[in-house]
Amino acid sequence: MTQRTLVLLKPDAVRRGLAGEIISRIERKAGWQLAAVELRTFDRATLEQHYGEHVGKPFYEPLLTFMGEGPSIALIVEGENVIPGVRALAGATDPLEAGPGTIRGDYATITRENLIHASDSPESAEREIKIFFPAHA
Ligand code: TYD
Ligand code: MG
Repeated sequence: MTQRTLVLLKPDAVRRGLAGEIISRIERKAGWQLAAVELRTFDRATLEQHYGEHVGKPFYEPLLTFMGEGPSIALIVEGENVIPGVRALAGATDPLEAGPGTIRGDYATITRENLIHASDSPESAEREIKIFFPAHA
């Protein structure tokens, strides 16, 4: 099934020079295409919308601070089963539980700075694409 997903390369990925490596892993997957790309430092309102499901959780405020501290890269990726596919490439939320060969498993150690966001369902993907790429919604 052809899908679209919203991917964020978080500020740690850009700061550490891992953006190219991460995009490359996604891009090399057969049948997946980049449909939109933008480098931007996200403002608070954008991050509140994106992470609304986590309001009130203990990690919410530190997460928003971290996500706004420098430029990120937002992408729309489209292709066959790309929603679960990019989640699988990313690995578990906690990098210590993410397997070798996954982006988080290979390059991250702490949950907050886990390099990448990827939509978790078709509904999330459409909601998140509207936030970051309204012209593509
Ligand atoms: P979540 O949606 O649970 O994970 P995922 O990014 O894998 O969909 O959480 C969103 C982000 O919040 C997560 O990528 C990193 C951060 N976070 C923490 O800092 N601490 C935590 O305990 C959790 C669960 C998430
Ligand atoms: Mg999530």
